[in-house]
Amino acid sequence: MRLVIATIVALLGTTLGVSYDGYKVYKIVTKTEAEAALLRTFESNENFDFWSSINKVGKPISVMVAPNAQSQFEFILKTTKMHFSVEIEDVESTIEAERRYHQSRRPLKSGRITFDQYLRHDEINAYLAELAQNYPDNVTLETIGQSYQKRDMIAIRISSGPSDPPKPAVFIDAGIHAREWIAPAVALYAINQLVENPYYSLFTEHVDWIILPSLNPDGYEYTWDENRLWRKTLSNGTRCIGCDANRNFGYHWMEDGADDDECSEIYGGKEAFSEVETQNLRDYLADTPNIKGYLSLHSFGQYVLYPWSYADVLPDNADELQGLGEQINNAIEAVNGTTYTVGSTTATLYAAAGASQDWAMGGAGIDIVYSIELPGGGFFGFDLPPSEIERVALETFEGLKVFGQYFVAQKR
Ligand SMILES: *[C@@H]1O[C@H](CO)[C@@H](O)[C@H](O)[C@H]1NC(C)=O
Ligand SMILES: *[C@@H]1O[C@H](CO)[C@@H](O)[C@H](O)[C@H]1NC(C)=O
Ligand SMILES: *[C@@H]1O[C@H](CO)[C@@H](O)[C@H](O)[C@H]1NC(C)=O
Ligand SMILES: [Zn+2]
Repeated sequence: MRLVIATIVALLGTTLGVSYDGYKVYKIVTKTEAEAALLRTFESNENFDFWSSINKVGKPISVMVAPNAQSQFEFILKTTKMHFSVEIEDVESTIEAERRYHQSRRPLKSGRITFDQYLRHDEINAYLAELAQNYPDNVTLETIGQSYQKRDMIAIRISSGPSDPPKPAVFIDAGIHAREWIAPAVALYAINQLVENPYYSLFTEHVDWIILPSLNPDGYEYTWDENRLWRKTLSNGTRCIGCDANRNFGYHWMEDGADDDECSEIYGGKEAFSEVETQNLRDYLADTPNIKGYLSLHSFGQYVLYPWSYADVLPDNADELQGLGEQINNAIEAVNGTTYTVGSTTATLYAAAGASQDWAMGGAGIDIVYSIELPGGGFFGFDLPPSEIERVALETFEGLKVFGQYFVAQKR
């Protein structure tokens, strides 16, 4: 049976088109570890895009499957008696409906940030520029570089001013995976509250916050204009474009949970740091002193994850990371009951060698490092409706505050 399935899986590969005509999304609930293992054999196949991780038995898994692979896939699901249903019959028509909705949205008026809509990359940068202008004592902007298509990647540093000795800094990024729109929105909300809400100046008194809300701007804009479900960067390839930037960092690169097929959703790139976006982040972290904490925002699944991603091994300070991760969860949960699972990436979810968090710890030498998978919503999980941005941002901000305050309490 295993050989038959391997053969069928091998036969399924052809290039993904830009349209999702006829693409289906299946929801599968595994009953055994063997079923989960079978599903994992599809993970690097370009006809399959897993929207949730294949981890715990019994948790629902969503996977989008290209039309030419569906009948074989359903055959396998049926013959192995897996529990599955079709969640979305035709992905393209669902995307079209969403696209019409987002394109009919009103443009953001200058000086009027709101959290009832998602923002384009240039609107995000315009807001940052406005803050720099209005709060010169507290805000400095740094362009850490440009993306492949020459968009500015701007980090904002929020500070109550210089001090001696210098204060510790925390670094937060969002948007490395283009389709995970709630991540930049949450980063922007944190920026907004820390800068513009006088009540929260308390949280910038002893810690500088450096926030990069849009780490993959080309991919992000591509999700608005071309392909709502795009995940990767947009660099050139021979058969398929882009690279999973969160598999491209040069620490145990490509060891496990990444793919060397450039059409795969988890393609790690031609070499470590092949992408200009990951180079920019690497260089910024290397050149910026005193960064004590690193946190990367993703969606979806409600996880607080710490290294390592490259294999099922734990860093020396895993107990500390577990403890602080649980405090972050408790703060979020206290708002309205949203709970997160806390653990190391590989043990909790899956291996993902080349992830930014491994490089932040192993390459940049930052001790306190997390990735947060925010809540999902909408049709696909990545398309939480705009009406829910504020709810998620508000509760997540409680967790981010705990993260930032940790470096005060510990006098690290
Ligand atoms: C902004 O800077 C001023 C002057 O250093 C300080 O008093 C204030 O608390 C700062 N506000 C924030 C949000 O950091
Ligand atoms: C990317 O590929 C296109 C088409 O093959 C080519 O015109 C362009 O110059 C390439 N860009 C880079 C930066 O290699
Ligand atoms: C709290 O959660 C409930 C149930 O998930 C939801 O209906 C409600 O809108 C949430 N309230 C707030 C303030 O977010
Ligand atoms: Zn992600």
